[in-house]
Amino acid sequence: MTTNTLPALELAASDGHTGDMNRDTGLAASALAVRGLTVSYGTKPAVFSIDATVPKASMTAIVGPNGAGKSTFLKAVLGIIPRLSGAAYVDGKPLETMRRAIAYVPQRASVDWDFPTRVRDVVTMGQFRSLGLLGFIRPAHRKKTLECLERVGMADFADRQIGQLSGGQQQRVFLARALAQDAGLYLLDEPFAGVDAATEKAIIDVLKGLKAEGKTVVCVHHDLATVSDYFDHVLMLNIRKIAEGPVTTTFTGPMLQETYGGRLATTHIDQLKLD
Ligand SMILES: Nc1ncnc2c1ncn2[C@@H]1O[C@H](COP(=O)(O)OP(=O)(O)OP(=O)(O)O)[C@@H](O)[C@H]1O
Ligand SMILES: [Mg+2]
Repeated sequence: MTTNTLPALELAASDGHTGDMNRDTGLAASALAVRGLTVSYGTKPAVFSIDATVPKASMTAIVGPNGAGKSTFLKAVLGIIPRLSGAAYVDGKPLETMRRAIAYVPQRASVDWDFPTRVRDVVTMGQFRSLGLLGFIRPAHRKKTLECLERVGMADFADRQIGQLSGGQQQRVFLARALAQDAGLYLLDEPFAGVDAATEKAIIDVLKGLKAEGKTVVCVHHDLATVSDYFDHVLMLNIRKIAEGPVTTTFTGPMLQETYGGRLATTHIDQLKLD
């Protein structure tokens, strides 16, 4: 971890990225705007000086090789890990004031699944902000929990222990938990990793439904073959930002080569049937 202990906001102010909000026209028009984000776990930055602008109601993919800093980027945007510099805005306002509007689903491998909790409790916890100070669960919360489990096809598993589910089933439950938060911005770290085709279809249908409701979805995504089908916007990362923009104009062979450092076979890129 970085040894820097300054609060993220102070750091953000120190690099000039909070003072010029009025001149930054991308901010108010975007669901998420990141400015000058640098994160370091030691001396070498894992994410360096990234500006990114996620359009409202977009489905945005974050792509890049293993170790490119994709998970680090999301965690630092959310303030889960400290930023060395930079700031994040949601709907043009500092992210720190907009937490209620954000749902986050971490990379599955990073979560400890052995804690003894029922599926329905995991999803109900997604509503903790509306449970009140004493955490009273009212019938409306129970109803919402079941509705969200139904949306991901997991209602029959409500009383199971989360640790007793398969990986793909756990992924659906954590999507249900995010749905229960009623957020406007969904940040998901590899929601399709290790799931079968049916679960992938169920998850993408839910995410497309969110977009249709005007919500914004950002996914770290590894399967380059489905980027064009699933997403309309893309952020290509490899420690630095390589490119960002509409998938049709940004997700191109040369940009992929640059993002993956020439490690993608040309045949692989040809198979992606890029425009
Ligand atoms: N807690 C940590 N302490 C030290 N180094 C870390 C830590 N977490 C990540 N790193 C390093 O930072 C870099 C970026 O890691 P990160 O997890 O953000 O990559 P990623 O793009 O999400 O990769 P993947 O596709 O494998 O999930 C890697 O080199 C990783 O080894
Ligand atoms: Mg990751």
